[in-house]
Amino acid sequence: MTLHLIDAEATAALARQLNAVLPPDTAGWTVLLEGELGAGKSTFARALIKDMGHNGAVPSPTYTLVEPYQLPGRIVYHIDLYRISDEDELRYLGWSELEDGFRLVEWPDRAPGLMATADLRLELKYADSGRSAHLEGLSERGKALVREIDESTRTNSQD
Ligand SMILES: Nc1ncnc2c1ncn2[C@@H]1O[C@H](COP(=O)(O)OP(=O)(O)OP(=O)(O)O)[C@@H](O)[C@H]1O
Ligand SMILES: [Mg+2]
Repeated sequence: MTLHLIDAEATAALARQLNAVLPPDTAGWTVLLEGELGAGKSTFARALIKDMGHNGAVPSPTYTLVEPYQLPGRIVYHIDLYRISDEDELRYLGWSELEDGFRLVEWPDRAPGLMATADLRLELKYADSGRSAHLEGLSERGKALVREIDESTRTNSQD
């Protein structure tokens, strides 16, 4: 599905829409956030982590690579691969140890292999003064979720 996000609040609202349809158990889920510098990846990630129950700051994981959040019912790993130049570096990051959580990945283009095992891909692009968002399900469970969000968006816009 493709949407126009008129401002940063619309980007945050899309994150909340995703949270509303996520299953209670999101261990092992991976969501890829793509888009060039300033496209709104962190805006989306912050809104999602806050909507999942985090109170307080959501610092950028650019230098730490991974910021973990123990939230009600789930662990979230906010990951930023901007500084990764080689897919093998994922091993140093301890990727395989992050399977107990919901992985939210900025700059997944640095590790193209992630596409094969991820559930959702959000691509943000500059469009007029806002952004266009393309949300795509990669796994079967991811595709089902996108259908749900798409249907709820259509229903709401008919009101
Ligand atoms: N839909 C939107 N329309 C207009 N501005 C937006 C939209 N979504 C986010 N922004 C704004 O774009 C700016 C950059 O957002 P953000 O930091 O989330 O981008 P980013 O993709 O994480 O960038 P970087 O790659 O540099 O980390 C912020 O000022 C944010 O408020
Ligand atoms: Mg960012």
